[in-house]
Amino acid sequence: MEIAVQCQNPTADNNDCVVVGVYEGGVLSPAATLIDMASGGVLQALLRTGDFSAACGETQILYQVPKIAAARVLVLGLGTHGKVNDRQFRKAALAAASALQSARISRVSLHLLDTPVVRRPAPALAKILVQAIAEVDYHFDRHKKPADSPQRAFDTMQLIVTDDNTTYFTEIQRAATEAHATARAVAWAKDLANEPGNVCTPAWLAEQAEAMAQRLGIKSTILGPDAMEALEMHLLLGVANGSRQPPRLIILEYWGGAEDQAPIVLVGKGLTFDAGGISLKPADKMDEMKYDMCGGASALAAIQATAELKLPLNVITVVPASENLPDGQATKPGDIHKSMKGLSVEIINTDAEGRLILADALTYVERFKPDVVIDMATLTGACVIALGHQTAAVLGNHEGLIHELIAAGKESMDRAWELPLFDEYQEQLKSPFADLSNVGGRPAGTITAACFLSRFTENYHWAHLDIAGVAWKSGENKGATGRPVPLLVEYLLRRARAGGLRGS
Ligand code: BES
Ligand code: MN
Ligand code: ZN
Repeated sequence: MEIAVQCQNPTADNNDCVVVGVYEGGVLSPAATLIDMASGGVLQALLRTGDFSAACGETQILYQVPKIAAARVLVLGLGTHGKVNDRQFRKAALAAASALQSARISRVSLHLLDTPVVRRPAPALAKILVQAIAEVDYHFDRHKKPADSPQRAFDTMQLIVTDDNTTYFTEIQRAATEAHATARAVAWAKDLANEPGNVCTPAWLAEQAEAMAQRLGIKSTILGPDAMEALEMHLLLGVANGSRQPPRLIILEYWGGAEDQAPIVLVGKGLTFDAGGISLKPADKMDEMKYDMCGGASALAAIQATAELKLPLNVITVVPASENLPDGQATKPGDIHKSMKGLSVEIINTDAEGRLILADALTYVERFKPDVVIDMATLTGACVIALGHQTAAVLGNHEGLIHELIAAGKESMDRAWELPLFDEYQEQLKSPFADLSNVGGRPAGTITAACFLSRFTENYHWAHLDIAGVAWKSGENKGATGRPVPLLVEYLLRRARAGGLRGS
């Protein structure tokens, strides 16, 4: 899909379809007003029929509108004028994209930047539009036989601005470029995660990362079991014990910032299939555990966007990748493994494996003397119970970083909310036989998982995102969502804008 920003009168726009907004109560947007006047009141006539109420997300395609250059006009309902918020605007954008796709229209002009959205300037609207279009444009069907009538992908998407003031124009263009890179990153994260476990193995994931790195000139290093042995990463190796697929540690380094600037390090859980190990999971929905590498995918996707946008930042992505399967060689409940950091861990439940592979990766990244470390992981079912599928959990040892992540999530509509990491919870991780137990019992499962990680992150500023609820959706249209890529990219953009400095 190509995205262009243009200044154009909707009546003269000769794209396949122009999209204009209408509000409840017969209020027309500026672009809709121009169409209505030129056509002799076609839109007012539509509203008078009562067939179109302009409720948020309602759509109507009109053909052969008199005196209008485009072959089609898509009228988009935006709800109450002056009261449209960002979520409603996104809902309307998604509805427009779906209607265009069903009608198989692929060259489209969106005259929607004239929508007044509460506390959101036009560049933010441009981002919402681009990402909504990309969302609807995404399909994962490479394992299906070609359909008789394949979905038609969007070809060109024009974002129309009515004001040709250059600073304004440049700002919209920059927003569109950033949103497009974000959308590609989201789509790639979805692709990696939707790929089944028999394709997406640790080695395959590492190959995909390497290919992307090569394309964009990012440094890549891939470690296998021998190197892990040498580094004494016995928690990561212990999880991989039960699998025929050797584990990988994927390390990508993008050095686009000042030489003396400490890097931002992203660590993502890359568990390519989580059967639970000897503490085997129930069969129901076990297929969904192919998504247990979404944290890793989002870390890879975020560094891809960073490199594509050539952000003046230093960013490092580290992904520990492994399977978690039952086997004669698998780690057993009660086994004790020594972490790279030197702490011993009694593995009470082999299904709490994410924190184990992350612990060694979080120790490994100390060598980069990071400015901050952010890890992403589909870590606990408890997080789904606490926050559902809407909101990621964020916990960490640095308030400033946590707040920046929450703010980036709000801006990118990829929200996160803080859970407490009070010291008192650490009690739950005591083991009579080792320095640490890998589980803390049923209460506060998301918090005790983060407590476990916190024991390996004491030497730097760190935040953890538990994305178990947000990274994929179940049900008939199950699939990866690409979250928290929008949050991460927004955080990185903000850091780049601040000259790489932390806000606090
Ligand atoms: N990958 C799972 C977490 C998960 C569960 C993500 C459901 C999404 C949906 C993780 O490895 C896991 O199994 N966690 C256990 C931890 C428990 C044994 C302490 C869990 O949440 O049940
Ligand atoms: Mn597990
Ligand atoms: Zn897992």
